[in-house]
Amino acid sequence: MINQKYHALLNHADITFEAPASNAAIQVNDAATGDALAWVKTHTQAAVEAAILRSQQAQAAFKKLTTLQRADLLMNWYQLILKNQEDLAQILTAEQGKPLAEARGEIGSAASFIRWFAEQARRVEGDILPSAQAQQRLLVLKQPIGVTAAITPWNFPAAMIARKIAPALAAGCSMLIKPAEQTPLSAYALEVLATQAGLPADVMITLSGDAVAVGKTLCESDVVRKLSFTGSTEVGRILMQQCAPTIKKLSLELGGNAPVIVFDDANIEQAVKGIMASKFRNSGQTCVCANRVYIQAGVYAAVSQRVIEEVNKLKTGDGRVDGVTQGPLIDEEAIAKVQAHIQDAVSQGAKVQAGGQRVAADNTFFEPTVLTDVTQAMRVAREETFGPLAPLFRFETEDEAVFMANDTEFGLAAYIFTQSSARQWRVGEALEYGMVGINTGLISNEVSPFGGIKQSGLGREGSQYGIEDYLEIKYMCLDLSE
Ligand code: SIN
Repeated sequence: MINQKYHALLNHADITFEAPASNAAIQVNDAATGDALAWVKTHTQAAVEAAILRSQQAQAAFKKLTTLQRADLLMNWYQLILKNQEDLAQILTAEQGKPLAEARGEIGSAASFIRWFAEQARRVEGDILPSAQAQQRLLVLKQPIGVTAAITPWNFPAAMIARKIAPALAAGCSMLIKPAEQTPLSAYALEVLATQAGLPADVMITLSGDAVAVGKTLCESDVVRKLSFTGSTEVGRILMQQCAPTIKKLSLELGGNAPVIVFDDANIEQAVKGIMASKFRNSGQTCVCANRVYIQAGVYAAVSQRVIEEVNKLKTGDGRVDGVTQGPLIDEEAIAKVQAHIQDAVSQGAKVQAGGQRVAADNTFFEPTVLTDVTQAMRVAREETFGPLAPLFRFETEDEAVFMANDTEFGLAAYIFTQSSARQWRVGEALEYGMVGINTGLISNEVSPFGGIKQSGLGREGSQYGIEDYLEIKYMCLDLSE
């Protein structure tokens, strides 16, 4: 059971700490030990429909607040999240498994989105356009889109919610949130703090339950005017279809297959640091994780050797234990995917240079793994592994590297390591990705636009652009003739 000292943050009607008599609740497990932490309500279709109506009523009043009032409420929330950073991180690590240091970082990142959009709330500005007619005035207003919904993933149970709800509330929308079944507690803790911050009831409603049932009801609702989803491309396609009849506005942050390209002229230590940060953050379970590491022939041996050395220093275990850098994978399916990618690569000639095995049959820890002699013919070149596997490919020329990097239906994040500023521009511009890290493996922050192209999604989150997805443009034409 989750430590009693966190009960105040989880003091929500949907949560119990004793197994309920009926089976209308989902058990939330400790990611490292498998023990039950708590139970959350399963929202039925009727409960979701009722919540949508409550959200609609709340939004009707919320949109009338001034932008300064909304900004102040978001700032209160931001302060409370920071004040509770340690407890929120403990809850996050318990349900998700990432090391505490990463969980603390994620709570800091969640808070930063709320602060950023509190600031942006006051910068939603319309326009007055020059008219070709002397008696006309042409005005552009930006108005909240209305009731919105978010379906959020288990890999960042707090930050992905904050990145979606902060611009929604800043714009004057309400939001219904369906957190991942494995990690709903962080969502509820954020909602408890939102209430303490003074945000009006029902502008944020957390809806735990079966992803398919809750998601479908949100997608098919005519009241919900926008859906924001972070998750796989496969599920994104289904949600897009379900939203089509009501022509909902969509933000989709979907799968990636991120290439890292290390050129002969790279600073090798900088490249190794970038590969390690990008690949092994959250045990390789991020959409922007390095999925393919392309290393130019002249530095292949040196970079591979250093990556293997660094991987051998990583420590796998319970994220609450000091020094642990790699938590568990989310489930058996995740383990099976990593194993399948290793097996396929090895059967075609790749060599395991570090790790390669699950840690034990009765848990979901997997050894951080390095494969060398990987080629484009292997599954790791085409599919997102979403686990702690670094496949090292060799290339000869810049054109070959760019071709291989772009040879995918995905287009979320890419990384390059080179000292040449001409090459930084040339390759940065040639890569078909929404985000490019140059001499760095960490690119996420609240100030920059996060999102992908091709089948990696639609829209941008964070940044000055993120709030636009929660606004409608209204044009008013005023005729002055009397
Ligand atoms: C992800 O969406 O998986 C990555 C999130 C981040 O890097 O902030």
